[in-house]
Amino acid sequence: MQLVTEENITELAKQRWGTAHDERARELLTALVQHVHDFAREVRLTEDEWMAAIQWLTRTGRMCDEKRQEFILTSDVLGLSMLVVQMNHRFDERATPATVLGPFYIEGSPEFGYGGDMSDGVDGDPLFVHGTVRDLDGRAVAGAVLDVWQADAEGAYEAQLEVDEARLRGRFRSREDGTYCVRTIAPKGYTIPMDGTVGDLVGRTEISEYRPAHVHFRLDAPGFEPLVTHLFREGAPYLDSDVVFGVKQQLVVPFEGHEGGVPPAGPELDRPWLEARYDFVLQPVDGSMSGRR
Ligand code: BEZ
Ligand code: FE
Repeated sequence: MQLVTEENITELAKQRWGTAHDERARELLTALVQHVHDFAREVRLTEDEWMAAIQWLTRTGRMCDEKRQEFILTSDVLGLSMLVVQMNHRFDERATPATVLGPFYIEGSPEFGYGGDMSDGVDGDPLFVHGTVRDLDGRAVAGAVLDVWQADAEGAYEAQLEVDEARLRGRFRSREDGTYCVRTIAPKGYTIPMDGTVGDLVGRTEISEYRPAHVHFRLDAPGFEPLVTHLFREGAPYLDSDVVFGVKQQLVVPFEGHEGGVPPAGPELDRPWLEARYDFVLQPVDGSMSGRR
């Protein structure tokens, strides 16, 4: 009989979880035991702290439903989501980098033609995002689907509102020459949801709860890795303090202001509008790992 001591409990628990039938599950579960035990030892976890953590996790679980995912938000603010994104999307350095998906993506957005207006009546400064979808050698990629979504000028996503129709989201397609054009409104920075358990934790720190102004993109094209990313507005507040660590230099784009006139698509506008030019560069599915970041 092997009696349990403070010294041997980690090995005993690892042996037990090392009986998992699946090899990868075995690796994940034994490493998890090692790391949580190390954590408890390192911080000399008290019983009160352990109970507070259990209660926090319980409250977090109770908040989660189809519209609200407080655990993903937890992972986002801890930098874990972005670490997992980076480890799993080590693209060639010429490719557009990936960033966090975030909790507000909705599938099945309406389709728009070149320059179609996905803001359709939502208040804000008109913004045209346009450019070419390319491969690593600069060749145009035709027929790429660009799934686009963003928050309104108040920082609210459709998923956070009670609305019946698609709002500030749409699917676009690159043309034969690889070009695409999205009409929307200029995004603003916004705070992550602060009324839950993540907000409780963030509120006990000096962490800024803001995300810098951005538009979300998911690109899909046959033969290429799907790309989930954002474009951020150059000069926007919070670029260097994004609460979910999502900003990469290559994704920061100038929004050029125009006083009116003919935009990249559609008729002349008699009000100011903004223009962001960006060429998305896709990673081929079988791309070599050399030079990847
Ligand atoms: C977002 O950009 O939509 C987002 C990402 C992570 C956490 C919260 C919001
Ligand atoms: Fe967002």
